[in-house]
Formats: sequence, structure tokens, C-alpha cells
Amino acid sequence: MSALRFSDTISAALADGVLVVTIDNAPVNALSADVRGGLMATLEHAEKDGAVAGVVLTGAGNSFIGGADIKEFGKPPVEPFLPDVISRIEAFPKPVVAAINGVALGGGLEVALACHRRLATPGAKLGLPEVKLGIVPGAGGTQRLPRLIGIAAAIDMIANGRVVPGAEALKLGIVDRVSSDTLLADAIADIKTINASSLCRTGLLLVPSATTEAIDRAAADALRKARGQRAPAEAVRLVRLAATAPLSEGLAEERRTFIELRDSDEAAALRHVFFAERAAGKVEGLETVAPRRIETIGIVGTGLMGSGIAVSALNGGYRVIGVEQTIEAADKGRERITGLLDKAVQSGRLDAAGREDRLGRLTVTADMPQLAQADIVIEAVFDDLTVKTELFQRLDTIVRADAILATNTSYLDPDLIAAATQRPARVVGLHFFSPAHIMRLLEVVNCKETAPDVLATALALAKRLGKLPIVSGVTEGFIGNSIFSAYRREAEYMVEDGALPQEIDAALEAYGFPMGPFAVFDMAGLEIAWARRKRQAATRNPSERYVAIPDWLCEAGRFGQKTGRGWYAYPDGKRTVDPEVTAMIEAARTEKGIVPKRFTADEIVSRLLKAMVDEGDALLSQGIAARASDIDLVMINGYGFPASKGGPMFAAGRR
Ligand code: 3HC
Repeated sequence: MSALRFSDTISAALADGVLVVTIDNAPVNALSADVRGGLMATLEHAEKDGAVAGVVLTGAGNSFIGGADIKEFGKPPVEPFLPDVISRIEAFPKPVVAAINGVALGGGLEVALACHRRLATPGAKLGLPEVKLGIVPGAGGTQRLPRLIGIAAAIDMIANGRVVPGAEALKLGIVDRVSSDTLLADAIADIKTINASSLCRTGLLLVPSATTEAIDRAAADALRKARGQRAPAEAVRLVRLAATAPLSEGLAEERRTFIELRDSDEAAALRHVFFAERAAGKVEGLETVAPRRIETIGIVGTGLMGSGIAVSALNGGYRVIGVEQTIEAADKGRERITGLLDKAVQSGRLDAAGREDRLGRLTVTADMPQLAQADIVIEAVFDDLTVKTELFQRLDTIVRADAILATNTSYLDPDLIAAATQRPARVVGLHFFSPAHIMRLLEVVNCKETAPDVLATALALAKRLGKLPIVSGVTEGFIGNSIFSAYRREAEYMVEDGALPQEIDAALEAYGFPMGPFAVFDMAGLEIAWARRKRQAATRNPSERYVAIPDWLCEAGRFGQKTGRGWYAYPDGKRTVDPEVTAMIEAARTEKGIVPKRFTADEIVSRLLKAMVDEGDALLSQGIAARASDIDLVMINGYGFPASKGGPMFAAGRR
């Protein structure tokens, strides 16, 4: 093989009359200007060189092509444009075969779709996830994919941004063949079998016919999950267009829509989220610190939170030892964990073998000394300082000297818990969100004495659990609950100032939250915050504004949904405005001599955003949060802030 180079990122070698072209643009072979230019130059060469019978396209490393270069969005476009490269591939007079060796996403799959044949490894991942970035495919995906797999299946993949493995791609008809160890050799051999005079050009295929019912169902499913975001609806429209419009018209409409969405606020917000997620969990100075090996996780407390953590750990492939105080409680804990696994089986997320495998790695016991086998112990017991410090002192005498102790406290000071042990450097906070086996967010609390390797281990563990770890310093409520408290406080101030709970909830829901704050308070229950307020009453600054309405609600036995009454009433479980609450609010205003003012929805959102941002700025200046984008991710993944707005810090910046 003699090597040729067409740009910094594109090289090629002739093998048996076939030009094997490698895209090498680490980390994911994104389609940068250099890649696009190099591909054009390669095609130019391959067309002219009589020794080249055909072209195989593949990627270096673990990726085929990760998509368009997202870092180029928002910058002036540079030629050649991706649709032109792709048209050139499809119209190429010699066979072009895609050897998909890893991820083929977005523009990467669009390149492959234009090739005359596609081979993929079983582990390759194929998809058009553009909607997750607030855009639609912009280089033919919405027009070519339905020509291969039909309108309904294409809507399912594109409007949901669903990524499929190689084997499923074969079943769907996206790829022609799955090949494991001999992908390149198979692709080269395939070129020889292709008749250059009848190349299969995807864009010229007829869209397979389908029933309107199947198409409507796929569209309705996708739009229901889209919760008002624009891109999924546009994706559905464009895929449907493939069935009725000629290719050129469909491509032009797709490109127009892509450019319009790419420049939208929604796409800018989702791009921010994408890069924020990649930055999250990166801690300066920790790059060279190796995480410790974790195989066995101890979990003390197998209630709602502990059982969720256990399932998450089992899903991550760990051995789990759950500990309870009594044999009866241990039996109940095992039942709870088994129940969660059964639910996963019923919903099709887990198969029977996966369930057995997980149960095979689970022990639930009342015999705490078994935790001597654990590499890390996570406590998920009642959130009380005495309970937790006594537990940690006991664990200190049981676990190995090098084992890590993690507390799942949400409000207590983990430095105090750590100080109760002989190993404060080996203590870290792992603040899971409930239900812990579902929620992606995990606040990793870097305590005063936490050793760098312990923090690195906690971050590696979070990743293996499939979580999104955000590092927080120690403060009451860490990042999430600090911001949520500020949000709650401001929402209550606004109620006193003139906005009704239902007006505030409606404004926030229209903004994109699945539920407004008062509906959330009712769902979570009002009594825990009430108990905390009573605890803090003696030390509260008397000059600080205090809204008594939530106390009055609790005194009236209105603890939220669980008692059928809270900020709202719930006759038949349905959220309903309650005149009794409105009267309480009016009485509170009169008592303080407040003349109520009217708030527009925009004023409500602005005031709540400002409260969150002020608190966020304080957390940044105190070093509790490392970056504003971490705060955005916490609020999006833990508190329902709409991702399409980018999080409070980003959204406030845009305003
Ligand atoms: N453009 C630019 N940079 C990208 C990128 C892209 N498309 N995809 C990933 N990266 C970068 C990340 O920012 C990260 O950079 P960093 O190391 O500096 O933080 C690095 O690549 C590695 O990414 P991950 O940490 O996510 O690595 P993983 O191995 O976990 O995942 C992946 C790899 C599955 C490719 C994942 O990065 C991913 O999903 N990327 C986005 C894929 C995508 O959405 N493609 C469509 C783009 S839009 C498009 O193609 C429009 C077209 O229709 C015209």
C-alpha cells in the first residue's frame, strides 16, 4: 500500500485497486473544513486515476464520523459545504463503500447514506441525533434515510434522535452487511462485486410505501416526547416530505430548515448543554490522578434512595452489599431492589438474563461487618447528623483502611460527618437524586479533606453508573438545593407581592418546566421544609423577609398531594385552585400591608431567573461551583429547568 495525503486529516492508500480513505480528526473524526476539503480532493484524485476501481471510506480510531463539527456552528461557513461533498459521493462514477467502524452520527451517517453500500461493525452506533442539538439533519439525512428504511422508521430515528447499533441498523436496512474483524477487507472485496454501471444511489430510490396509520403513530409518539421543542416537529415534516417531493426539493427545504434552526436560541442553548456536559466532572489538577479500583459497593440503608442506588450500582456492573439494621428490614430491602429490577423487565429495559445477573451480584444483610469487603460504602440513611456521624464512626471500624466512605446527605454538613471518622481524607459526598436508578444527576461533594484520588474515584464511579457528575463544594444544600431554595424563596415573595401560585406555575410551565414550583412543592410534600424552618427559627435573622403562608398551609394540615391539599386542592387527584388558599394569601398580604401588583408571565420568569442567577453567582464566587455551566446542568437534570433554554445562567446571559 502506498500512502497518499489529501489534507491534514485525510489520508488514503491503494489496496488491490481500491482507494481506502481514512478520516483522522481526533477525537471523533468530526467533519471539519479540513475533512470536507480533504474528501473533495480525494474524490477528485480517485475519479481521475484509472488505477482506482472504487473507494472505501473509514475512520481512524473508534469513530467512523461523529458528525458535523459542532464547534464550527455560529462561525462563518467555510467551503466546501457538507451537502456538496455528499452529493459528489452519491453521484460518483465509481463505487464508494462506507466501512463504518464506530460512531456514524449526524453528518457522519449522512456521508454513509450517500455511499453506494454500507458495512458496519456490530458495535458501531448509527443515528441522526441532531434534534438533541435543536436542529434537523442538514445534509440529506431526512431525505435519504426514509428512502432506505421507510417513513415511519425514519421518523422514529430522526425525530427522537435515536441511535442504533450495527445489528439493528442491518435489520432496519440502513446497512447492507455487518462485519466484525474483517470490516476493511470485506469492504474492499465488496467493491469488486459492485457493478459500476448500476450503482445504488440512495437519493434515487423510491420511498417504501407504508400505512398512514404507522406514520401518524410514529409522528405522534415523537411529538409527545418533544414537549414543544421545534426541531422534532420539523424533522417529522421533512421526513414526510421525502415521500412526496423530488430529492432536490426535499434537500433544499431540509437545508433551509437546518440553517434556520441552527441559528435559533433553542439550538444555541442545546449546544451549550452539549459542551457543558463534556466539561462537567473535569477538575483542574485531577487529570493525572488515577482513580482507585472499585468492584464492591456497600450501601447502608435500602429504603427508597438506597434501593435506587443499589439498582444503579448493579446496572453499572458492581457487586452490591446492602445493609439494614434487622433481618426483616434487609428482606424488605431485597424485595424493593428486586421490585425495581422486575419493573425494568416489564418495561423491556432489562431482559431476564440481565435480571438474574444483577441479583447474582446482590447481597442484602443485617450483618454490617460484611462491609469489610467493600471498596466504597455509600450511606443512604435518615438525614440526621447524629444518625450519620454515629454510623460513620461504626463504619470506620469495619471497612478496610483504604476504603472510601460516601454520604448521600442533601442538607447536612459532610465535613462534620467526615470529622467524626479517622479517615476524613477518604470521605466524599455522593448526593443522588430520587429515583436514584433513573435520575442522571449526581452531585459529587468535594469535602474539606477529600483526597484527590478519592474525588477522582467518585467521578469515575459516577461515569460507570451512567450518571452526570457535577462537583460541588460544601455549603448547605450544595449547588442544586441552594439554587432551588433561592427559587422557592423568590416564588413565595412573589405570591405575597401579588402573583398567585397558579399564575407562577403557568408562567414557568409555558417557559418549559414540566411543573411550576408550587405544583412541585405539593408533589414533594410541604412538611420537610416546614420542619427545617422550625429548626432554624431560633437562629433566623429577624430583619430578613419571611413568608408565613407555607407555615399556615402546614398548620392547616395541607402537606401537599399526599394529604389531597397543599398550595392546591386535589379532588380526584386533579390539581385545582383552592379559594381557601387564595384567601390565606390575601390575608398574608393584608397583614403585612402589601398592595398586590400584577405580574406578566415574562416578569415572573425574569424575577425567578434573577434569583437563581444571583445565588449561582454567589456559589461561583465562593468556589462551591467550578463553572456557571455546571449550575445549568444541575438545574436541568435535577430540577426540570428546560434544556432548550440552556439552564438559568445561560438563559439569563441571553436575556
Ligand atoms: N463536533 C465537535 N466536537 C465534538 C463532536 C462534534 N460533532 N462530537 C464530540 N465532540 C468532542 C467533544 O466536545 C469532546 O471534546 P473534549 O474532549 O474537548 O471535551 C470530545 O469530542 C469527546 O466527546 P465525548 O466526551 O462525548 O466522547 P464519547 O466517546 O463519550 O462520545 C460521541 C462520542 C458519541 C461522538 C459523542 O461525543 C456525541 O454524541 N457527539 C455528538 C454527535 C452529534 O450530535 N452529531 C451530530 C452533529 S450535528 C450534524 O452532524 C449536522 C449535520 O446534519 C449537518
